[in-house]
Amino acid sequence: MIEKAREWIRESRRPVALTGAGISAESGVPTFRGAGGLWRQFRAEDLATPQAFHRDPKLVWEWYDFRRQSLKGVEPNAGHTFLARWQMRRPEVVLITQNVDGLHDRAGSRNVLKLHGDIWMVRCTVCGRETRNEEAPLDEIPPSCADCTGLLRPGVVWFGESLPPGVWERAEDAVDDCDLLLVVGTSAVVYPAAGLVPSAKSHGARVIEVNLEETPVSGTVDLSLLGKAGEILPELLR
Ligand code: OAD
Repeated sequence: MIEKAREWIRESRRPVALTGAGISAESGVPTFRGAGGLWRQFRAEDLATPQAFHRDPKLVWEWYDFRRQSLKGVEPNAGHTFLARWQMRRPEVVLITQNVDGLHDRAGSRNVLKLHGDIWMVRCTVCGRETRNEEAPLDEIPPSCADCTGLLRPGVVWFGESLPPGVWERAEDAVDDCDLLLVVGTSAVVYPAAGLVPSAKSHGARVIEVNLEETPVSGTVDLSLLGKAGEILPELLR
């Protein structure tokens, strides 16, 4: 199976990778679903919706501040490094992620299409200015805009919000045009991101899935590699 995946990776001309929280699990970042998942401990409705932020910006920011602080202490793992190396060898590899943790950037990946935004970006709810902010813990919760003193929000996509339009279009175009989609560490249940998998298939691409366990798309992919991303992915470039 690994040999077949290696061969397809070698043969591909327009490869795309789609990652989810599972790729960061071996760095010590909790996933959302499954054992130890964030949505087992917290309610998404209380913390990751525009309504929750409107109701209690301090509570929402405390949660993001806690996650930002935890991320300061972790490093990219062999899975992130594999993707950065693959992109270095093959600049045409398009990397799409649902993760907001910035670990692909830190591993050296460039032009990452971040479907759900970036936890290190903040956006002013008044003037709309978007800036990078890597302060963790934050000095002030909730933080305010240096330009207009308006309330800042995390630069992530919450439930009920649209994906960043330019980013989503580029991801869709890349997937429509790809000949290989490597899907790593996603439960493939959150749309529209999860729709990229059937979309790649319907456009004739080969799809390889790497996950600890079977997901709703496992039965539809061409190759399903069960195991840890940090162990399987490095095998794919040998
Ligand atoms: P999930 O937490 O839903 O799924 C993580 C997946 O990674 C599961 O299928 C696990 O089996 C798999 N997994 C865990 N450890 C792994 C490992 N070491 N190697 C390979 N696979 C592993 O995370 P996502 O699919 O990314 O959105 O979730 C999608 C979105 O739902 C997130 O971006 C977030 C969340 O709510 C928003 O906040 C908008």
